[in-house]
Amino acid sequence: MQVESKELAEDLLPLRAVNHVEIFSGNAKQSAYYYRQAFGFSLVAYLGPETGVRDRVSYVLQQDKVRFVLTTPLQEDGIIPFLSKHGDSVRDIALETSDAEFCFKTTVERGARPVQEPHVINDEHGSVKVATVATYGDTVHTFIERIDYDGPFLPGFMPMPEDSIARPVGLKHIDHIVGNVDWDQMQEWVDFYINVFGFSRFVSFDDKDISTEFSALRSTVVSNHNKWIKFPINEPARGLKKSQIEEYIIYHNGPGVQHIAIETDNIIETISKMREQGVEFLDIPESYYDDLLDRVGPIDEDIEPLRRLNILVDRDDKGYMLQIFTKPVEDRPTLFIEVIQRKGAESFGKGNFKALFVSIEREQERRGNL
Ligand code: FE2
Repeated sequence: MQVESKELAEDLLPLRAVNHVEIFSGNAKQSAYYYRQAFGFSLVAYLGPETGVRDRVSYVLQQDKVRFVLTTPLQEDGIIPFLSKHGDSVRDIALETSDAEFCFKTTVERGARPVQEPHVINDEHGSVKVATVATYGDTVHTFIERIDYDGPFLPGFMPMPEDSIARPVGLKHIDHIVGNVDWDQMQEWVDFYINVFGFSRFVSFDDKDISTEFSALRSTVVSNHNKWIKFPINEPARGLKKSQIEEYIIYHNGPGVQHIAIETDNIIETISKMREQGVEFLDIPESYYDDLLDRVGPIDEDIEPLRRLNILVDRDDKGYMLQIFTKPVEDRPTLFIEVIQRKGAESFGKGNFKALFVSIEREQERRGNL
């Protein structure tokens, strides 16, 4: 087993980061266009009938270190029941490792449900070892170990020419991926990541301020040791209004990924471009900005662009952060994307819950789900 840093040596599993997120989609060709034009991803690799795969197509989209894979079935197979049950949704949070076999064996021994045994896939670019285990709902984790691979994505995928329609917006890497689980299931899945994956509870400033009254959710964050993999787990809670997590669980037909948070180092520039390119974000009440500096203290940015773009700010004991949430990226009110810029803060923006939930509830009300 190859361990590359002291930090990794302290982990149960030699995991480095999220390798990619695979989204099962009803029409990957059209979704890919949306993520390229609106979110700025480039199409870098493709798999389908042209590469000898008969039953599905996959488009690999990349922006800096963020990779989304959009997959659509072409024939009756295991993907169709997933799609009819959940709609477009995250199937796989794939994790990069130096030892896929060890990750699979260890997690299965500790209680993970095996989905695919470790095996090597290869093409003219080299070999990769993969293995898959299940997590909440119909979501899985594939462990990806590059043995000697220098191709565009994974063996079997063909490289694509430089993407002439992608409009990059400065998204850098995945900061965290949030799972929604059912009523009273949060602790079970937190324990799963602690006991089976060897993750730790990620204690942040947020934990001290459980505002379930407004948020109608409970949330606990788990992470690996190097903190490059952070998974907040949400469950619905009884609050002033119907929980947005409950709405998710109903429309998604069970647990699944609620949002993917992606980091930028210039959120004003990133969100200006994304808005120009047609991404829709949650509207924030004007009053949020009136007393913003009283709440969060001095910040480097001018208030005006934040107000115009509806970017939120929160502070913890380590610094501050800026964040914004898209509206759901499909017709069901399920998956959405967060863009975040961290300026020292390690937390997840609980200080924004009250302002945010006014906005989320307004959207829920428009859908008749409040
Ligand atoms: Fe988040």
